Amino acid sequence: MTETKIKYGLAGVVTDDTAVSKVMPETNSLTYRGYAVQDLATQCRFEETAYLIWNGELPTKTQLEAFNAQEKANRGLTDNMIAVMRRFPKGAHPMATLRTGVSFLGLEDKEIEDHATDKLYERAISLYAKIPQIVATDFRLRNGKEPIGPDASLGFSENFFHMCFGEVPAPEVVKCFDISMTLYAEHSFNASTFTARVIASSLSGIYSAVTGAIGSLKGPLHGGANEAVMHMLEEVGAAENAKAWMLDALATKKKIMGFGHRVYRSGDSRVPTMTDAYKEMVDIIGSDEANKYWNMSRILDETMVGEKGIYPNLDFPAGPAYYLMGFEIPMFTPIFVISRITGWTAHIMEQLGDNKLIRPLSNYTGPAQRDVIAMADR
Ligand code: COA
Repeated sequence: MTETKIKYGLAGVVTDDTAVSKVMPETNSLTYRGYAVQDLATQCRFEETAYLIWNGELPTKTQLEAFNAQEKANRGLTDNMIAVMRRFPKGAHPMATLRTGVSFLGLEDKEIEDHATDKLYERAISLYAKIPQIVATDFRLRNGKEPIGPDASLGFSENFFHMCFGEVPAPEVVKCFDISMTLYAEHSFNASTFTARVIASSLSGIYSAVTGAIGSLKGPLHGGANEAVMHMLEEVGAAENAKAWMLDALATKKKIMGFGHRVYRSGDSRVPTMTDAYKEMVDIIGSDEANKYWNMSRILDETMVGEKGIYPNLDFPAGPAYYLMGFEIPMFTPIFVISRITGWTAHIMEQLGDNKLIRPLSNYTGPAQRDVIAMADR
């Protein structure tokens, strides 16, 4: 018998081609459809990046206007959906309610079995338009407030703030959010994207694939790190404590949330852009709390890099940035979904464009084949 070489966790295994994004560990960089993610984040609105991820090219002004009109036309949840959301158990995690919300959208879609590319694209836009409202509605209902519907006069990011808080914050705050949307949008074959492709490959449909991807992202080893970063900052409590806290955490071999990356070993190209936007927002907010989290972040970063040479990942600046925007900590991963729906659905379309059922092999380690003994003789 030939010896089976198992790649646990599929580490290092290339399972398919993709034209959506490229992760380059040697330069710690990431491109979407050939464009450096930091250039997209600073020079384009998230809507342009979403168009690029799905269509392969940046939009012209006319194409962007048509695309935005299509997104706006798809905003809005049915009364039935909102009635169901009102009955969600109080205390359920927002990622769990989002998972159920997206699954419910699938129940409402009468053409769910149609896998034609144009139908998939229409559904991708519909999910991109509706997921922010599911997140915002859930946030308001869990806080005893009535949902606020979308406003067609507002852009994608502005509309999300409006649906959460009934107002749109300063442009620097919206810009910081919009930049985070672009930076989180796509990251090749990570666990949730691969989950989406596996489910899509059985022709189960886009809602099943996205629901599964949300389930995968929910796990703390994947999407939950931005929430964990904020819990860490709350534990540190003050900038004066930050260095001693970090030294103690390292001495006791704690995993420091928001640092390190499986692929990027000497810095994550998304971090400087997100950190700059976070700082710009802190300066505009100007509160003691905003400065406290900024100063704490800087000291933790310097200490970690100085002591261990381990660099922050995108979750490190994104966690406190979302907190200062007014979002509750359990909303951080659902906010990640608002962005990543673009990457997931691009991969689902790519998978179904040249589909082959994903079905790996396993190395059996159970008992050898044996005979069933009749019940009376057992
Ligand atoms: N805090 C403390 N030490 C860390 C660390 C962290 N965040 N990340 C890596 N290290 C240490 C490891 O303990 C290991 O030390 P050792 O050689 O003394 O055992 C060394 O750095 C190499 O790390 P490695 O285990 O090869 O990293 P990995 O590829 O298995 O893990 C992560 C990558 C992302 C899972 C890991 O860095 C981590 O858990 N980070 C915190 C969670 C996080 O921010 N996740 C979001 C990722 S985008």
